[in-house]
Amino acid sequence: MLISMPSPTDAQADLIAYLDFHVEAGADAVLDEQPHDRFGEADTPAPTLRAPRRPAAAPRPAAPSHGLVPPPGSPPPPAPARTFGRAASAQPDEAASDARARAREAKSLDELEKILADFDACPLRFTAKNLVFADGNPEARVMFLGEAPGADEDRIGKPFMGRSGQLLDKMMAAVGLDRTSAYIGNIVPWRPPGNRNPTPQEVAVCRPFVERQIELVDPEVIVCLGAPATQTLTGTKDGILRTRGRLFPYKLPTGEAKLLATLHPAFLLRQPVQKRLAWRDFRALRALLDGKA
Ligand code: URA
Repeated sequence: MLISMPSPTDAQADLIAYLDFHVEAGADAVLDEQPHDRFGEADTPAPTLRAPRRPAAAPRPAAPSHGLVPPPGSPPPPAPARTFGRAASAQPDEAASDARARAREAKSLDELEKILADFDACPLRFTAKNLVFADGNPEARVMFLGEAPGADEDRIGKPFMGRSGQLLDKMMAAVGLDRTSAYIGNIVPWRPPGNRNPTPQEVAVCRPFVERQIELVDPEVIVCLGAPATQTLTGTKDGILRTRGRLFPYKLPTGEAKLLATLHPAFLLRQPVQKRLAWRDFRALRALLDGKA
């Protein structure tokens, strides 16, 4: 039976074009009934943010460049950039060393999560709805690490909840694992707006936290899903089709874990033919856990 759909009215077509525009711009999920201007909120630091531990530097008197006084009638100076907590003012190196110091303070995963929730030197936290810290069992022998949360994970506050997560669950199930026997996290715990890739600076600021998270979980095997996780934790520049299936040593205070690189489920959703390679890696993971590799 052929069902003919009525063509949209002009008003409906305008509305569809308006929604398409927002989806293209990265506003692709409904988070709340009421709109929030998160950028505006960020101009006023939220009261829950911890005060910076370093004493604030004394303000310097504003000096016109080259020591010249602007002639009368010259255009006004540009408006200051919007501020996002310390994220706007902190230099990337300073933010990363602050992240290292804060991450070291955490004596447990709960403490680490609280420290991250208060950490305001990564700009991503100001555009994300939720901190996406982890899911699964912190006592697990195996820890999976992805890149960064997407829209579903941001909405729910847990990693790998969307289509990639469903595929990851199936891949784990194929080797006898699930979220009670595995721990799951990401290199970056906040969703980059519009699902763009996190920048190298964002990764560098978040890295001390994921490194501490790994130390606290203390897994025997770390499975890096995709190139960003593999490159961040091993330092390799090689692409994932080169590194997948390889085992890298990963130093932990308690000894050495094995880091296994494999393909990201999102990549497998785009290129299902590559699932056979991931299957090989997951069988290697099973053999590692069974002490047969
Ligand atoms: N992709 C990731 O890398 N992490 C998630 O949590 C979801 C999708």
